[in-house]
Amino acid sequence: MVSLDFRTRTDADIRGVSPGEFFGGELPALAAAHCDLALPGARELGVEPFAFVTPSGAWTVALAGDAFTVTPGDDAPAVAHCADDDVSQLVDDLVTPMTFLTAGRLRMVRGDLGDFLDWWVVLRALIDGRAVHTRGAVGFAARDDGPLDLGRSFTPADDDAELAHFLAEAGYLHLRGWFPREWMDEIAADMDRARPGYARGDGRSWWARTAAGEDRCVRMQYFDEHSAAVRELLASDAFARIGGLLEGGYEARTEGNRIEALDKPIGVVEGISDVPWHKDCSLGMHSYRCCGLTVGISVTGADARSGQLRVVAGSHRALVQPAFLRRDCDLPVVDLPTGTGDVTVHASCTLHMAQPPVERERKVCYTGFGLPPRGEAGDAHRRADDGSPREARGAAGPAGGSRRGAGPPVAIPAGGGQTGSAGNRHSREKTRKRGR
Ligand SMILES: [Fe+2]
Ligand SMILES: [Zn+2]
Repeated sequence: MVSLDFRTRTDADIRGVSPGEFFGGELPALAAAHCDLALPGARELGVEPFAFVTPSGAWTVALAGDAFTVTPGDDAPAVAHCADDDVSQLVDDLVTPMTFLTAGRLRMVRGDLGDFLDWWVVLRALIDGRAVHTRGAVGFAARDDGPLDLGRSFTPADDDAELAHFLAEAGYLHLRGWFPREWMDEIAADMDRARPGYARGDGRSWWARTAAGEDRCVRMQYFDEHSAAVRELLASDAFARIGGLLEGGYEARTEGNRIEALDKPIGVVEGISDVPWHKDCSLGMHSYRCCGLTVGISVTGADARSGQLRVVAGSHRALVQPAFLRRDCDLPVVDLPTGTGDVTVHASCTLHMAQPPVERERKVCYTGFGLPPRGEAGDAHRRADDGSPREARGAAGPAGGSRRGAGPPVAIPAGGGQTGSAGNRHSREKTRKRGR
């Protein structure tokens, strides 16, 4: 079988490190040991000196010739102010610069989020011993070693080994006619029936205002509580088959917010309906949890006019920034238009976005599978939430320069978006127990 289990850490690896220990000792040693992994990619990114200012002191990281340097001080064109604990959590891969952005506490007195994201990529390479992506480094091969058709879709008649190979190679799947149309019609009707039961501020739904002046419920969480059809779908062999494609014992969500039902209105002017480019690990914990699998069930079909999922092929195998898409990224962007009853699957590490509808609305349900925990769920999993997206509360400075293709502050699915992971489940259980 094929594996997309990229995990290298467990909660036992969370050690906490002070800025002085990290910048003063560990990072110079890591920069020497892993320089070859980070240097070519850092050159392509064109990183310039970047300073971290913390209550414990200031340090500037830079690429100088063929080496990375770490020096005291903040004489750099980009400067981020961080708490000591922010540095510790960055090092332990519990947060990313996107976490600071979405929490509304990204503090950059010079430079912008794009500079921070570039250095996040370089630091991850140095800390984790993983190569920064470089142009041409990710290729795509079919099972017979021929070229892989990235536009390929599959049907229930196809061989699971073919599906698994494509998913591992490309980072996504388009499954055609996976569920009968009548089943989708039932789910669509259930969505219409359930919607009046949701209200703004109920903690179980997302809302958006449209240019036409409507206040629309765009995301109904815990939708399984409202639809026998969707419960039946989650219990079906066709659904279980998706979770069984990869090695690792993927688990479906069995409690909590098992599945979300989304309406995609046209002309959203306020609130989050269509999420821009991101990985589901964009807020951290990649090395603890990736790759989970997110499953989109196309209730009404989707295309460029009604909005659709778009993915960056191979991005799950590339150490690239976890949100926004750099304009110079060499990896192919693939549109995933779907018919009613089709399914999309993407890995939590695959860059993806929802294209807003312009002509017709659409309906889609999202659920997923997660890897079982590797060891006792502790601090790291308690830090994770139920995977519900969070809305950004703004950032100091623009969210990235044009060369990076960064956009405005956005909603990014929190906690890896792997809401089916047993780790999350343990997290909630423990949190509840602690709360009693
Ligand atoms: Fe996502
Ligand atoms: Zn990841």
